Amino acid sequence: MLITRLAIPGQSSGEWPFTLPAVRALTGGVTLTAPVTFLVGENGSGKSTIIEAIADVCGINSAGGKAGTRYASTGPATPLGEVLDAEMTAAGLRLIRGPRLKRSAFFLRAETLFNLGQNVSGRYGFWDQDLTEQSHGEGFFTVLDRMVAGPGLYLMDEPEAALSFHSCLRLVGLMDRVAREGGQIICATHSPILTSLPGAHILELGDDGICATEWDKLQVVDHWRRFLAKPDFYLRYLLDESSST
Ligand SMILES: Nc1ncnc2c1ncn2[C@@H]1O[C@H](COP(=O)(O)OP(=O)(O)OP(=O)(O)O)[C@@H](O)[C@H]1O
Ligand SMILES: [Mg+2]
Repeated sequence: MLITRLAIPGQSSGEWPFTLPAVRALTGGVTLTAPVTFLVGENGSGKSTIIEAIADVCGINSAGGKAGTRYASTGPATPLGEVLDAEMTAAGLRLIRGPRLKRSAFFLRAETLFNLGQNVSGRYGFWDQDLTEQSHGEGFFTVLDRMVAGPGLYLMDEPEAALSFHSCLRLVGLMDRVAREGGQIICATHSPILTSLPGAHILELGDDGICATEWDKLQVVDHWRRFLAKPDFYLRYLLDESSST
């Protein structure tokens, strides 16, 4: 483990993002108990806000990228990143805050990956392939295979966005390997496949704040189960409504 706890020390303002229940929950502190943590929750529940703030605290550009390089030049910290405290182990301090060239922390962010690729493909410490010559999912895996390996901190925001069913399974295997190699992953996701990783710590964000839960109690898993068993049940009302307008 590299980061064992996230907390907002003291009082926080009444402005965004401190109005989000999940962010408010960080005032009491949240302990990370396993090498892989998933943040799960509805759109707008605060997953990206928290992942970006962790990136800020770890010196990674919150738009995505790698710590310890000049491409890591961070802009102003996000409001949560300015106050968030990440408790680190000795290994975490070495790999996240240690000498620049020894740092190992990477933030894979779906929206900005291809922009990042234009700046860093072929450069030392990154990947050789030109992502524009690969499919969306192939490009993702080029980056994952090269950048997410061994001890280090890996932040991910919806990595499943580009991935097929089988590629999601492959990513579960990669996450498991990284955890065994001494790495730590904190990943925002909507994927019932990724969250099925055995031993992962699942935090569900919602109106009640942040609750630790298990895979088969996740709302997203329940919805997928019901939908796949009976898609009509979900679609009937929706399609009737749209055809009547
Ligand atoms: N700069 C900002 N100023 C004000 N509100 C913002 C800002 N950025 C995001 N928000 C709001 O904060 C809330 C949480 O956003 P966030 O991006 O963290 O959600 P999320 O859980 O990652 O959602 P998704 O699953 O859609 O990616 C949203 O309601 C969003 O509109
Ligand atoms: Mg998000």
